[in-house]
Amino acid sequence: MSQTQSRFGPSHDLLKASNFISFPEKPSDILVLCMRVGLLLCLVSSILIALYSAFFTQSQWFVLPTPAHTTRDVSFGDPEPTNISHILFGIGGSVWTWPKRRRYSEQWWVPNTTRGFVWFDSEPKNETGSIPYRVSEDWTRFKYSSSQSAVRIARIVLESFKLGLPNVRWFVMGDDDTVFFTQNLVSVLARYDHNQMYYIGGNSESVEQDVMHAYDMAFGGGGFAVSYPLAALLVNKLDGCLDRYYTFYGSDQRIWACLSEIGVPLTKQDGFHQLDIRGNPYGLLAAHPLAPLVSLHHLDYLEPMFPNQTQLNSLNSLMKAYRVDPSRILQQCVCYDRKRKWSISISWGYTLQVYPYMVPVKDLQKPLQTFKTWRSWRNEPFTFNTRPVSSNLCERPVIYYLERVEEVGKSGGLTIYKRYMVKEGKECDIEDYKRAKAVQRITVTSLKMDPENWRKAPHRQCCEIMDRGSVKNGNLRIRIRKCRARETVTI
Ligand SMILES: *[C@@H]1O[C@H](CO)[C@@H](O)[C@H](O)[C@H]1NC(C)=O
Ligand SMILES: *[C@@H]1O[C@H](CO)[C@@H](O)[C@H](O)[C@H]1NC(C)=O
Ligand SMILES: *[C@@H]1O[C@H](CO)[C@@H](O)[C@H](O)[C@H]1NC(C)=O
Ligand SMILES: *[C@@H]1O[C@H](CO)[C@@H](O)[C@H](O)[C@H]1NC(C)=O
Repeated sequence: MSQTQSRFGPSHDLLKASNFISFPEKPSDILVLCMRVGLLLCLVSSILIALYSAFFTQSQWFVLPTPAHTTRDVSFGDPEPTNISHILFGIGGSVWTWPKRRRYSEQWWVPNTTRGFVWFDSEPKNETGSIPYRVSEDWTRFKYSSSQSAVRIARIVLESFKLGLPNVRWFVMGDDDTVFFTQNLVSVLARYDHNQMYYIGGNSESVEQDVMHAYDMAFGGGGFAVSYPLAALLVNKLDGCLDRYYTFYGSDQRIWACLSEIGVPLTKQDGFHQLDIRGNPYGLLAAHPLAPLVSLHHLDYLEPMFPNQTQLNSLNSLMKAYRVDPSRILQQCVCYDRKRKWSISISWGYTLQVYPYMVPVKDLQKPLQTFKTWRSWRNEPFTFNTRPVSSNLCERPVIYYLERVEEVGKSGGLTIYKRYMVKEGKECDIEDYKRAKAVQRITVTSLKMDPENWRKAPHRQCCEIMDRGSVKNGNLRIRIRKCRARETVTI
């Protein structure tokens, strides 16, 4: 009840404040004053009275909203910043998919640090690995039309809540093929006040999926977070919602519909990746938005991220880089070799592209379209802009993939990217291109990115080519650093 009152309180104040023109307690006094000292002074005094009354009634008009980016847990009345142990994960699994899919969860789950459970549809007969599990309670009493398991998976948030575990600030839901980058998830969630009602996640990359489900729905495969107070409200409503929205296909859609009854919208966050795309995710991962990488999904449905590696090995390679510098993983950075007229785009920990001509950042930050839409395998539309992979081989970049990653001391990272050999006859053979191809490896050094960075206004870092661009033994060196004051990346 107190929730309801506080939610309606402010609008009541607002009404009072919006009446401020007639608010003065002694209108006759004001009138007399106006006649005596003229219109200007009248206006000034009315405004002063209005302001005074507005402050006095605590109108929300005059309370500056605190932007999420700069708020800190400290100001939430909770002295400790959010860390991994404040998150309770609920993975929607089943005894049938788990044997194959657990390898994805095991890539990111740290036993005895990550809290949560994979939820099964029945007691497993086989070995399940190190991730603790629970068996869902009876879900067959609820209505459904197309997908009964969606009912069960939607209830994971409720069953997780009912476990009553201590110090849980966030319930994070994912599928058994969702890969979380937990340090970055913590960076994201720590920006928000867990004592308020939040629903955080991302929608689908494919417009057809957003149209069919909802743009303002967190797609479950990319994972989503529900803050404790919101979960507390949701658990009382959910079973009713399941029967009301039984015609839906997905569990995520049921949760979304139920949250819409509560009145909490999705807080969209870049970095949650449902990966509703087909083909090669390369373009998307090579031009990640300026936000921490929080999750990947659907990896079994996509071509391996690294050529000549299985998808699991690809993920392993990416994870190695992530563990060295979690905040920097997939962060893009652009620099130019002005003498040679090369444009270089780095997606840290994954790939590097050299264009033997000048390309402005506005184009490099647009993903190359190496993929199609999820449902209909079409070329468009997506919820972001893409640029086509040119049919002219000489317009395509020379591509390098992560070969090695190392920690340098406690605070630095070194990544080496090796040139990808394109099949004979499938590569441009003009001189400019050949010169770029002569670079076999590119070594990139950087300081580890401070997770605090993600609490600040986003600002892409800069890179610079070292040794005046000289290529030694086929190796070029690049350094990533903070941009200097007023430095821009200009062609
Ligand atoms: C997370 O913060 C809590 C305090 O809220 C603390 O007790 C706990 O040790 C921290 N856990 C980690 C893994 O840092
Ligand atoms: C359990 O293991 C056996 C033998 O490896 C296999 O045939 C069976 O399908 C497994 N059951 C499940 C539910 O995965
Ligand atoms: C996790 O904790 C349990 C009990 O505290 C312990 O037996 C187990 O060895 C731990 N596992 C790891 C991987 O640290
Ligand atoms: C692909 O991997 C295999 C085995 O690891 C290796 O022998 C082969 O040379 C690789 N091919 C390319 C094109 O890198």
